[in-house]
Amino acid sequence: MNQFCSKVLSCGHYLPQKCVTNFDLEKKMNTSNEWITQRTGIKQRYIAEGVNETTAQMAYKAAQQALEIADIKPDDVDMIILATSTPDHAFPASAVKVQALLKANNAFAFDMQAACSGFIYALSTADNFIKTGGAKTVVVIGADRMSSLVDWHDRTTAVLFGDGAGAYVLQAQAYSPHQGILSTHLFSNGMQYESLYVDDSNCTNKYGYIKMDGKLIYKNAILKIGQAVTTALNANNLSVNDVDWFVPHQANQRILESICDHFHIPYEKMIMTIADHANTSAATIPLATYKGIADGKIKAGDLLVLEALGGGLTWGSAALRFG
Ligand code: ACO
Repeated sequence: MNQFCSKVLSCGHYLPQKCVTNFDLEKKMNTSNEWITQRTGIKQRYIAEGVNETTAQMAYKAAQQALEIADIKPDDVDMIILATSTPDHAFPASAVKVQALLKANNAFAFDMQAACSGFIYALSTADNFIKTGGAKTVVVIGADRMSSLVDWHDRTTAVLFGDGAGAYVLQAQAYSPHQGILSTHLFSNGMQYESLYVDDSNCTNKYGYIKMDGKLIYKNAILKIGQAVTTALNANNLSVNDVDWFVPHQANQRILESICDHFHIPYEKMIMTIADHANTSAATIPLATYKGIADGKIKAGDLLVLEALGGGLTWGSAALRFG
């Protein structure tokens, strides 16, 4: 029996200054606003620039905001996990840069890589540390500078991604089966490694470029996100009606609508930010959570189901009572 559960105290975010619309992309490559909107639902994305919008810098700004909202001092943080596929350097972890910027002197910090599922993986890890007494106050961040991985000559992938960061602050509280993070569920299938990956051979880009089998990812997303949502609902004896908000990874509007149709989820119950943010990989879920709160939708006490699928393939879900 666990002594503790993980209360989700707050959510912070950061989006880069520069906004690039589909019309801007029309001028840069052979694409159209109509194609992008119809196939993906994306209308614009934010693109990071310069040294003040590296992954670590964006992560820091999101974490700082989340700590301010929660009224937690950096010295009280004892663990920082940064989910990212685009760290500032191969090592050390960008999470330690975030620690330094926050002046979270009593924390330990590390990165976690599970592509677009990274935030769910990081949340699950943080929750398990808290439940077992290994940490009391944790900052969980999802941050990605996907524009670093985009081949701007490849219209099939370039239009899909954006940059940004989001963060939750979690804190241990006395165990209750109905409070905080109720459950998390992680899955992967390495046999599908090559359906979505970064090719870093023969390439002058710092990391390499995204390569994707879009149709295969699309099919897998619907099947596997369905599995993740069902697992989270069943594990907590919940029905769709019990859930206040579904907060999914944002890859494609059509994927999100298919999930809604399959589970009879009203579209209004799903937080959708794909139109404004595009796919920011590990950052989509906390960015969507922040938007849900800012729009007056998500409130303290609401029941949320989060879910994601990404490269690996990796996928997963979490059920939590917010605030
Ligand atoms: N602008 C204009 N035309 C384009 C573009 C573009 N940006 N990209 C592709 N096309 C063209 C193709 O060249 C093709 O032309 P052709 O018929 O003359 O050969 C045509 O559009 C259709 O291409 P498809 O690849 O068949 O398009 P599809 O309907 O499969 O849509 C898409 C592509 C949007 C990528 C879809 O497969 C998808 O959303 N897949 C999911 C992938 C995803 O979301 N990945 C994100 C990372 S993974 C994650 O986060 C879950």
